[in-house]
This record gives sequence, structure tokens and C-alpha cells, in this order.
Amino acid sequence: MLFYRLLPLLASTVAVLAARYPSFGTLQTQTSNGVMHVVINNTFSEINVLDYHLAFDLANLLERLQGNGTDSDVHAVVFSSANPKFFIAHVDINLFVTGFESPLPKFDPFNPDILFFDALMWNITTLPQATIAVIEGRARGIGNEFLMACDMRFALSSPNVLLSQTENSVGANPGAGGAMYLSNLIGHGRTFEYVLSATDVNADTAAQIGWVNRVFDTPHELHDYVDNLAARIALFPLPGIAGTKQGVNAISRPPRDVFVRDSQDVIISVTSTAEGQELLDAVLKATNNQSLGAFELDWPTEVVKLYQ
Ligand SMILES: *[C@@H]1O[C@H](CO)[C@@H](O)[C@H](O)[C@H]1NC(C)=O
Ligand SMILES: *[C@@H]1O[C@H](CO)[C@@H](O)[C@H](O)[C@H]1NC(C)=O
Ligand SMILES: *[C@@H]1O[C@H](CO)[C@@H](O)[C@H](O)[C@H]1NC(C)=O
Ligand SMILES: *[C@@H]1O[C@H](CO)[C@@H](O)[C@H](O)[C@H]1NC(C)=O
Repeated sequence: MLFYRLLPLLASTVAVLAARYPSFGTLQTQTSNGVMHVVINNTFSEINVLDYHLAFDLANLLERLQGNGTDSDVHAVVFSSANPKFFIAHVDINLFVTGFESPLPKFDPFNPDILFFDALMWNITTLPQATIAVIEGRARGIGNEFLMACDMRFALSSPNVLLSQTENSVGANPGAGGAMYLSNLIGHGRTFEYVLSATDVNADTAAQIGWVNRVFDTPHELHDYVDNLAARIALFPLPGIAGTKQGVNAISRPPRDVFVRDSQDVIISVTSTAEGQELLDAVLKATNNQSLGAFELDWPTEVVKLYQ
């Protein structure tokens, strides 16, 4: 909780630092003609885990994108990953292990009713800008929740693109609206099929069932399509983009109180039990503390071995 204690100090120097949280350089951004490209490059993790480094950098980025409201110079944001095998593997499981010392505050210090990670996911949906995810690698758990918090998703047809909500395989629920967003995208029955079994969907099937908008055969075609789309959206005034998002979110996003309880009531309580802690320990051991290896590459197959 080191940085949390430093927050009052940081807040008072906000004008100088222009960011609420320490920076770790896990996001590379480049803006031109109203489009910001954000490359997720968590060099603290072999698998682009969403840990405190990436969480703090995301919070700073969101603050920057929110800062000017609908006067922002940025009209569209394109998220991609520098890691060829992972978009975002999942949340840093260490954060849920009792006794793990993390600088990340559990709750958003500026909105203490919501968990920090949930606030990040929620705040992506409230950005005035259009948000697009370019998927060339695995996104499981909060990685998939990140994708669904974006307005649009485009994927590469590649064996590296595997999406899932893995939480049931460690005794939890998706949280952060994971299952709720998914049921809007792919329907009630398919959501239960994928979420309860904690299995991956590949890019082609994801496009067929609406989990992603479209799939492309080559990285060139994928990036070309998304860049043209983002450039076109960015031509148009931001208040119209923000207003459209507000309208769509009003009917397709879970209400904030439901979203908040989705994580707090289940994940926190099940991961706090002895059985929950045992499962998380087993996963950390089997993944060699979230290293690049068989488990992280093929979670659905490997996780079953924990139950045999
Ligand atoms: C989310 O947005 C709210 C409203 O702007 C802000 O107060 C809060 O600090 C943000 N939290 C994170 C984690 O981005
Ligand atoms: C917000 O406005 C400031 C001052 O005009 C400008 O320097 C900055 O680039 C703007 N940021 C965004 C994301 O629009
Ligand atoms: C990711 O960051 C590292 C360290 O800063 C850098 O060497 C590498 O080139 C970056 N990767 C990409 C694809 O930008
Ligand atoms: C696992 O990795 C994290 C960094 O991601 C580190 O802080 C922690 O100490 C490691 N745990 C073990 C048991 O090595």
C-alpha cells in the first residue's frame, strides 16, 4: 500500500505531475489526426498480466482522455498489444493472495465504493472517445473484460487469439461485468456455455457469434481496416460520439450498482476462503508465477489438471 499512502502528497502535486499515480511506461501512446494508438507493453510480465504497473498506467491514461471532456483532441482510441501471444493474459492473481503486498489500492481512492480494477473497466466505457481493441493474442478474465469495455473489437485469425472468462475455473465469477457484457454480445445460452466451462473461443468463432466485430486473415488487413475506421470516426465532432456512446451504454451496459456488486459480492468472498486461496496458490505454482508456459498458453486444458 506504499503508493496509496503517498496519494495525498501526489494529489497536491498533480499540477506538476499531471497524473494521479506513478508511471511505469507500460503503455506506449501515439496520437495523430484525432486518433490515439495505445500499445499495451507490460515489460514487468512475460504475458501482459494486468498488474499494478499496468493498472496505474491505465488510470493515468484514462484521466488524460477524460480530462478535456468533449473538447478532447482525441476522438478515437485504438488499443493493441506489443506481446505477440497475449493482449492481456488476466489479472495479477497475486493481488488476491492473502499477504501479498501490493502498492495498488483495493478500492478507487477517488470513488471508494468501487474496486480499483472495476473502476478502470467502468471508466473505459465512460470515455467520450470511441474505443477500439485490436486483438492478436490471448485475452482471458479481465483481459476479455477490457475488450468488452471497449466499443468495438477486431481480431486476427490466429492460433494466438483465444478469449475467455476463466474465473469459474478458479471458483469465482467473471466480475467487472464480464458475463453481463458477454450475454449482450453472444446471448444467454452461449454465455453460460463459455463462462461456466471456462473455455476459450477462437477468433473465427468469436466473429461468427458476435464476441468480436470481425476477423481478418493478416495483421496488415486487420490494422488497415481499424486504422481507416478510427480515422473516419475521428473526423466527426466528439459530442456526437460521446452522445451515441451514452445512448448505447444506457441499454447495453449493466447498471453501475449491479456492476459494482458483481465483483465485490462474489470474487472477494470466494477468493477469501481457504479453498479459494488453495486454488489460487495452485494456479500460481502451476503457471510458475504467471510465466510464459504451457499453462498460460492453454489455460482451459491445463487448469483441469488441478482437479484431477
Ligand atoms: C474513474 O473515473 C472517475 C470519474 O472521473 C474518477 O474519479 C476515478 O478516479 C477514475 N478511476 C480510475 C481507476 O480510473
Ligand atoms: C487537453 O487540453 C490541453 C490544453 O489545451 C492540451 O494540451 C491537451 O493535449 C489536451 N488533451 C487531450 C487528450 O485532449
Ligand atoms: C516494449 O517495451 C520495451 C521496453 O521499453 C521495448 O524494448 C520494446 O521495443 C517494446 N515493444 C514494442 C513492440 O513496442
Ligand atoms: C510472483 O511475481 C510477483 C511479481 O509479479 C512477485 O511480486 C512475487 O513475489 C512473486 N511470487 C513468488 C512466490 O515468487
